[in-house]
Amino acid sequence: MFSLMTPQLVVMGGGSRHETVTVLQRLGITRPLIVTDGFLVKTGVVGEIEALLHKAGMAPGRFDETVPDPTVAVVEAGVTRLQEGAYDGLLAIGGGSPMDTAKAMAVLAAGGGAMRDYKVPASADKADLPIVCIPTTAGTGSEVTRFAVITDEATDEKMLIMGLACLPRAAIVDYELTLTKPLRLTADTGIDALTHAIEAFVSKKATPLSDVYALEAMRLIYPNLRTACFEPGNHAAREAMMRGATLAGLAFSNASVALVHGMSRPIGAFFHVPHGLSNAMLLPVVTAFSAPAALDRYATVARTLGLATAAEGDQAAVSALLEALTALNRDLTVPSPAAYGIDEARYRDLMPRMAEQALASGSPGNNPRVPTAAEIVMLYDAAYRG
Ligand SMILES: [Fe+2]
Repeated sequence: MFSLMTPQLVVMGGGSRHETVTVLQRLGITRPLIVTDGFLVKTGVVGEIEALLHKAGMAPGRFDETVPDPTVAVVEAGVTRLQEGAYDGLLAIGGGSPMDTAKAMAVLAAGGGAMRDYKVPASADKADLPIVCIPTTAGTGSEVTRFAVITDEATDEKMLIMGLACLPRAAIVDYELTLTKPLRLTADTGIDALTHAIEAFVSKKATPLSDVYALEAMRLIYPNLRTACFEPGNHAAREAMMRGATLAGLAFSNASVALVHGMSRPIGAFFHVPHGLSNAMLLPVVTAFSAPAALDRYATVARTLGLATAAEGDQAAVSALLEALTALNRDLTVPSPAAYGIDEARYRDLMPRMAEQALASGSPGNNPRVPTAAEIVMLYDAAYRG
């Protein structure tokens, strides 16, 4: 037995942002609170969508104070804004941070209490307001997932919030919004999406349906990631990346992520490394650690990415995968934690605490090879110099 959790409505394709009014109307939303960040306001993306809403007679509000790695304080400020107006929905515009902020706002507004009350293993299922997401990066997949990640600034912990309340009611996935994204952001978010697809596929919670999404996501993302980075205006590559990222989101929303994400969140929380980048720093070393426990699954990943033929054995395919992941990091200039400038003494000092937080998130438990705390410390150690 398995389940499938998806938004009610996903509208996908170039120019689909122009369907925002129709989507809101179909959901009965007339007064959404737009959740976004100052940068997207400045670039005009938010204004374009607001103009469409005003033209249709809607009266949207705006909370544009979201930050990268959204904090509890920002979510609480958002809830206050939400309660100041008679809003009937949340319209998140942006990358993972605005989308996750909107989700956490919906959870907190509906249930009260403190944000930490909702972190895993709790299940955040109650929300009163529908969420509509318009992603502006091809990465997090948050527009279709039942997860949000919120940083508790008091403990430097990236809390995983999971439940149906975090699942958007609708997603509007328009790759045109990614055409102007710079190389670093495209690379980091793209590797995040690739990691979602791989981790969902090797996860112990993978299902026959999540596999369909994961494999198609890999097929779309891997051959287009470098092109999207180095030819930012390439529509075909951007479209494939965007579709792949959303499909990867559907895959991991249903199969969960695993050890890379479990270990990545503490690096992000303690050293403020962007999420996709900390995933990239860990992906080769964690794949090497995990592959012996699910050689056939990783070999399928390699073949799906076009790195090995069906005639080649699983071991050879997995070797090709490990080489390809290292080459990808090199080509996309992913630094090691050391090269990123993370202080070695502090990093080593924090390794046991990061391992503890990684295990507490539950994600390592989905890994084909479930690590002990000592093994996670060993992997942090191995990743430091890349
Ligand atoms: Fe991720």
